[in-house]
Amino acid sequence: MEYPGIFTPFPIGNKTAPNRLVSQAMESNDSGPGGSVSQRGLKRYRKLAAGNWGIVIVEALSVTSESLARKNGMILNRNNLEGFQHLVQEYKKINPEGLILFQVSHSGYKSGSFSRRTTICPGVKDADYLTTEEIENVRKAFIESVLLAEEAGADGCDFKMCHGYFGAEMLRPANTRTDKWGGSFENRTRFLREGIGEIKSRLAKLTRQKSQDFILGSRISLYEGITGGCGTAGPNQIIEDLTEMDRIVKLMDELGMDYVNVSAGIPGVTSEITRPTKPSKHLYLNLARYAKQVKNLNTSLAVFGSGYTILKEEAASFAEENIIDGNVDFAGFGRMSFADPLYPSKLISGEKINYCTACSGCSRLMIRQEHDGCILYDDYYRKLHSEGRADR
Ligand SMILES: Cc1cc2nc3c(=O)[nH]c(=O)nc-3n(C[C@H](O)[C@H](O)[C@H](O)COP(=O)(O)O)c2cc1C
Repeated sequence: MEYPGIFTPFPIGNKTAPNRLVSQAMESNDSGPGGSVSQRGLKRYRKLAAGNWGIVIVEALSVTSESLARKNGMILNRNNLEGFQHLVQEYKKINPEGLILFQVSHSGYKSGSFSRRTTICPGVKDADYLTTEEIENVRKAFIESVLLAEEAGADGCDFKMCHGYFGAEMLRPANTRTDKWGGSFENRTRFLREGIGEIKSRLAKLTRQKSQDFILGSRISLYEGITGGCGTAGPNQIIEDLTEMDRIVKLMDELGMDYVNVSAGIPGVTSEITRPTKPSKHLYLNLARYAKQVKNLNTSLAVFGSGYTILKEEAASFAEENIIDGNVDFAGFGRMSFADPLYPSKLISGEKINYCTACSGCSRLMIRQEHDGCILYDDYYRKLHSEGRADR
């Protein structure tokens, strides 16, 4: 076995992932009517199931129909529950051991012009400033979506607090609101604390055994790279200072969460920090450093690292090294999961792997609000990309 570390099972909450490879959430912008699961979406997750990832995180699912970053983004509401149930069943039919988590999200300031662009932080232009009560409603929407994910049969949920979305705006020092949602550390983490607290107590009341084992984690941007962003020391600071992010990770542990998915940056603003490209390849080292720093906090959270794709053929040995050295528990792949959904199973079988070349085609499709996937290895997306169709 070439990668014994990668292919050693690892516990996450009360469950066990069969290996350490995570297919990160990747928006595909291909929902059916009303944000439902489409046939194309089902096909994508069936393929990922066949790929034998230890964990697949289903792309950002909006908790409301009001906060979409993608025109065809999926919405996790009761109307769409049956579709999500079917998605989980199909996944488990193919890969009963692999875990499937849903990422729940509110796009906030990242919402498209076709949706409602909102902000939490005072003084931000071109966005509706959310009132105290509206934020409470978002909190309730998150809770309802997480409970629906459990009802759909998912193994757990990823509370999206990264990449400049609503959750990240909430945490950052630039959230200087004067109501209960802003200003102090206590207030900026209230959303997470009260959200997770209520989810845990509602799950505890359910009689299904699997509800008690439902995995809860969150994806955070350790450093956003903007003034007053996550990973800075105050609303007017831009230089990296991770003191407060360490506190947030420890808080997640105290709240009884099961994992932290370590990312960084804000796509579209500080994109290279989130996903290194060819000219910025070595930024992957920052992502590795952030994951190591979180791991060194010695919490009981399982730690996911991000941004392995840019390493192509070297990614597996880097992941292996990180796991063996105890710098991460899981290695997360975003673009690679688009390029070759069968990556983990091919690492074992030795079949030829379609490596992502970081051509940024998937990012261009996303910006153009097209259905999204790999333009290099999938004819459908290649055609979409070359046709260059604007707004569908
Ligand atoms: C097209 C596209 C869609 C993405 N969608 C999501 C998403 O839904 N949720 C999320 O947390 N990150 C999302 N990301 C970020 C990826 O999960 C990942 O963090 C990033 O691509 C860096 O990892 P990689 O170098 O392995 O690709 C997306 C990235 C791309 C390029």
